[in-house]
Amino acid sequence: MAKSSKPSDKKSASKKKSTSKKKSTPKQLSVAAIGTGNIFKAVHVKPLNENPDVKLVALCDIEESKAKALGKEYGIDKTCKNYKDILKIKSVDAVDICTPNKFHSEIAIAALEAGKHVMCEKPDAVSPKEAQRMADAAKASGKTLMVMRNNRMRPDSQFLKKYIAAGNMGDIYAGRVGWIRRRGIPGKGGWFTTKELSGGGPLIDLGVHMIDLAIWLMGNPRPVAVSGSTYCKFANSDVAGDSAHSQFGRAQADGTFDVEDLAMGFVRFDNGASLQIEFSWASNIEQEKNFVELRGEKSGACLDSSQPLKLFTEIEGMLCDILPQVPTNVWATHGLYLNHWVDVLMGRDKPMFVPQDGVHMIQILGAIYESAKTGKEVQL
Ligand SMILES: NC(=O)c1ccc[n+]([C@@H]2O[C@H](COP(=O)([O-])OP(=O)(O)OC[C@H]3O[C@@H](n4cnc5c(N)ncnc54)[C@H](O)[C@@H]3O)[C@@H](O)[C@H]2O)c1
Repeated sequence: MAKSSKPSDKKSASKKKSTSKKKSTPKQLSVAAIGTGNIFKAVHVKPLNENPDVKLVALCDIEESKAKALGKEYGIDKTCKNYKDILKIKSVDAVDICTPNKFHSEIAIAALEAGKHVMCEKPDAVSPKEAQRMADAAKASGKTLMVMRNNRMRPDSQFLKKYIAAGNMGDIYAGRVGWIRRRGIPGKGGWFTTKELSGGGPLIDLGVHMIDLAIWLMGNPRPVAVSGSTYCKFANSDVAGDSAHSQFGRAQADGTFDVEDLAMGFVRFDNGASLQIEFSWASNIEQEKNFVELRGEKSGACLDSSQPLKLFTEIEGMLCDILPQVPTNVWATHGLYLNHWVDVLMGRDKPMFVPQDGVHMIQILGAIYESAKTGKEVQL
């Protein structure tokens, strides 16, 4: 099971290195960024720059002008356009990868092989094989590989995780997750909608966030069977607002749109639990929302972007809804996760994400795409 494999994975990787790791923990980490587009600018650069344990030493972007502009703003002189030049810098301890999806695994594996720790934006990789290669490279190198799972840092997610760990929900046997947009295609025609570069549509873009959150809250059961359907109905739509509710991506008028815009699916886990999923960039629904709904023997929980966290239970023979008063600042979560990564690298914390989490995640996504093609359930 994923849960039991985590500590031992980490132990065996860290056991071999325990003495040298202690000796080599630097006073301050030299970190370089690869891919300095929207997400790096919006929510990575500031927290890294403000973390006293980090020195941002180099920025890389194939459009080097972007790295240069950001370097000027943050006083970082070293910029380049080929990530291999970053990996040659001996003093760089760790890299933060924020490129389009296709390049995540190639760059992460090369960085691990060059002896660098890695933070990589989601999705981990565009195929299960690549995700496994990343996990293998992390194990072989003894370096830390973490992939962005910022939703785990939301105050409501953190509270719910503790509530569940204290046994308040009992066995969690079923769930529903989704991120459904009415109109929110990121950069129609750009890399997000081009399968070769993105690996898929809303399933790989938004699915990683919410499926991961559900599985993490459920205690990391191992996925064993998956079925799904995908649809592409908005590729040729020319409604002006197709991308209105996406903050990301650069639209390209004559670009490609060969990914799904809606994915539905069903995942079974080794402990008998199941998860229903739905993700859309565009679909004819009332309004956008993302949600994780969990059903436990003792109580249920609903994390829903359109309302505060709700817990459903029975007290003294009476049905009760509990409304925890947790703050809802979602966007600072990337910074919190990056700070956690830094704490892990400084030897102060254990990683809340291990590469096996990513392997399971990308296996699920890959299996939904396969099932959508074949019309059959896929055994993992
Ligand atoms: N966690 C989140 O909430 C979240 C939100 C948005 C995007 N993302 C992820 O972040 C990643 C980047 O998305 P974005 O919206 O910033 O895209 P973007 O297109 O704005 O930025 C990507 C940058 O990478 C550069 N680049 C492309 N190939 C490169 C290469 N081989 N080497 C170096 N640089 C390269 C591009 O020039 C661009 O500046 C994606 O994987 C996306 O899924 C995560």
